Amino acid sequence: MEGAGSDPRRLDEEKAWSLLLWLAARARAGDPFVGATAFRVGDDGVVVEASNGDGAVTIHAERDTALEAQLELAPAVRDMLELYLPLVVGRRSSDLVVGHLGQSLDGQIATASGASAYVTGPANIRHLHRLRALFDAVLVGAQTVAHDNPQLTTRLVTGSSPTRVVLDPTLRLGDDRRVFQDRAAKTLVFYREAQAEPRALGDAEVVAAPGQGTAFDLEALVAALRRRGLRRLFVEGGGITVSRFLASGALDRLHVTVGSVFLGVGRPGVVLPGIDEIRGALRPRTRRFLMGDDVLFDCAFER
Ligand SMILES: NC(=O)c1ccc[n+]([C@@H]2O[C@H](COP(=O)([O-])OP(=O)(O)OC[C@H]3O[C@@H](n4cnc5c(N)ncnc54)[C@H](OP(=O)(O)O)[C@@H]3O)[C@@H](O)[C@H]2O)c1
Repeated sequence: MEGAGSDPRRLDEEKAWSLLLWLAARARAGDPFVGATAFRVGDDGVVVEASNGDGAVTIHAERDTALEAQLELAPAVRDMLELYLPLVVGRRSSDLVVGHLGQSLDGQIATASGASAYVTGPANIRHLHRLRALFDAVLVGAQTVAHDNPQLTTRLVTGSSPTRVVLDPTLRLGDDRRVFQDRAAKTLVFYREAQAEPRALGDAEVVAAPGQGTAFDLEALVAALRRRGLRRLFVEGGGITVSRFLASGALDRLHVTVGSVFLGVGRPGVVLPGIDEIRGALRPRTRRFLMGDDVLFDCAFER
């Protein structure tokens, strides 16, 4: 007897994830999916374009949610496709820059001492691993590497770990950090030439990048990553790094996940220059998703 899982027209979470990885690989290769087509996924994870009526989902690359279900989808699968499809289809998806911050109800991403485990819950941590798997590079600021000593790999999901990119303008980080030592993925460290003498940091490649003073020119930095084939960029934090990307107009989307906790004065999430009038506020197109006990705001910016 055939179970629901073996019907190629039905998508469970695993098959939906295979479809998303497949679409991300197309975007990465410079051949993003555009237009509207029905797809189904075999038990082996192989994706095929489906002929009339036997697709599991129809994807409309230019629509906001990009999704039309052929058959009934489980709510978790529908949510997953609605959240991630806009990151892997459409013309812009070959050069996408997406940020994420997990913050408290009072807008903090960590305590004053830098502790951030865990402002948001396990579903959001898995989301971070999924984003890493869907992008070519994951970028973080020096303070995140100093405080968290993260690995920035895809341990919780299938899919390759991205290249790790660290912004360390004065090369102040110690070479004992895991991203420099663990060989789990390639690591690039960008520094400001005028601010530091280049030095070895474990296995990382240490690269000079343009800017002013200690500040990087983020447009030039993104262009330098693209020249290396790292076209899809995930900016994972912390607040200073994401804020600078946002302020310089370099983000296509920002995911802000809010956990039900108040941290008090700590390390803030997004901090932008002040405005005088409400009409001058940045108002992205926004979708909301429940993620475990947290709420994720998916903010889309015009670039
Ligand atoms: N909840 C979350 O989503 C999340 C995510 C990541 C990290 N965290 C937590 O947040 C804290 C770190 O965040 P943070 O906001 O303090 O710092 P951060 O963003 O991790 O790092 C900021 C530093 O990176 C360098 N940098 C970043 N962008 C730059 C640019 N455009 N030009 C030049 N240098 C740039 C600068 O290094 P220099 O200081 O050397 O000038 C800057 O001070 C840690 O406690 C970590 O645990 C939370």
